[in-house]
Amino acid sequence: MDLSRRELLTASAVLLASPKAALSGVGQAAGAKAAGAGAQAGAAVTGAGAGAKPIVLCWNENPYGPSPAARAVISGTIPGACRYPDEEINQLVELLAHTEGVSADHIVVGSGSGELLCALGLLHGRNGGEIIAAGPTYEELTNYAKHAGAQLKFVPVDKQLNHDLTAMRAAVSDRTRAIYVCNPNNPTGTAISAASIRSFVASVPESVTTIVDEAYLDFADSSDVRTVSDLVSGGKRVVVLRTFSKIHGMAGVRCGYGIARPDVAAEIAAARMSSPNIFAMRAARASLGDKAFLADTRRRIIASRTRITDELTRLGFAYAKPQTNFVFFDTGAPLERFDRFMKARNMLVGRLFAPYSNWCRITIGTEPEVEAFIQGLRAYGGKRAAAA
Ligand SMILES: Cc1ncc(COP(=O)(O)O)c(C=O)c1O
Repeated sequence: MDLSRRELLTASAVLLASPKAALSGVGQAAGAKAAGAGAQAGAAVTGAGAGAKPIVLCWNENPYGPSPAARAVISGTIPGACRYPDEEINQLVELLAHTEGVSADHIVVGSGSGELLCALGLLHGRNGGEIIAAGPTYEELTNYAKHAGAQLKFVPVDKQLNHDLTAMRAAVSDRTRAIYVCNPNNPTGTAISAASIRSFVASVPESVTTIVDEAYLDFADSSDVRTVSDLVSGGKRVVVLRTFSKIHGMAGVRCGYGIARPDVAAEIAAARMSSPNIFAMRAARASLGDKAFLADTRRRIIASRTRITDELTRLGFAYAKPQTNFVFFDTGAPLERFDRFMKARNMLVGRLFAPYSNWCRITIGTEPEVEAFIQGLRAYGGKRAAAA
């Protein structure tokens, strides 16, 4: 039985509320409705009955968030929720502009960066516009653009599962309207250097928009992997996207933003479908100021990532060099086997990303969740070794 994304998200919310309880299978009274749905999801996954909630390691969420400051602001905002948030939007835009070192007309906020990806897909894909992206990559922009009639060109990632910018440049034609560069890339977790993106942008025609999605950049630790947001002041059509769903741990709050030349930012703003909500605007401002939380999250995720890659190395599983809060690795057999094995241990892992039919994307959860994953991986590795 397939789980709907909604059920999974509900299950995840329960986990985030109480990861330890979820791990040990101890039921919690908190949030009866959510717990019920979570139990249902757990039962569907494991057949283990009511109370068994899955460990959700498939959506690249950050289980440590929202930050303490953002939580406090969200609760305190309830009385203000009867008001339209125009002033709150302006305040966040001003803060983001200050943080990014640009004027406010360079910033466009959205209900998640996903909304901005959709707007960009619509703007560049309509009337048969050609859009180039890596294969595989995050598909929110390309999927949306397809509905608008876009022609999509996917350029396979290279041997290290990284963007092949040379091949992407060679794919540019006079019909090309936009190029999507997800850096670090989802689902491979790999990242390319800021310098390589800079020379790529310099080489593309003026009319082409380069969209650099930096959703996971805060988890990168390679010294040459950095933001290229300053490129928006260089005259070219460059859009840099960020989200509050990853390092800020607010995937359910829905807030993201783009940095672009003022005319490009205005085009994106005009193509949005919704307007941001007051909780997201206030929580984002609070979270930006909670530096201790952001640093702690980064430290914990990177430490767990190292634990996972060390274990993958020890067990002989190949993986792509991760710069994200997830790891993409070769399970050595069709993914469905590993998927089934982990479901039986009450863990949900990432789906198949073609053409990598043996590979799994695993989100880095809390430390106990990572421990459970590693135990599962060892058991799977042992089984694999015994069968060989
Ligand atoms: C690369 C990338 N960009 C953007 C998003 C969308 O994030 P949100 O809409 O939550 O801001 C995601 C979500 O997983 C992602 O993986």
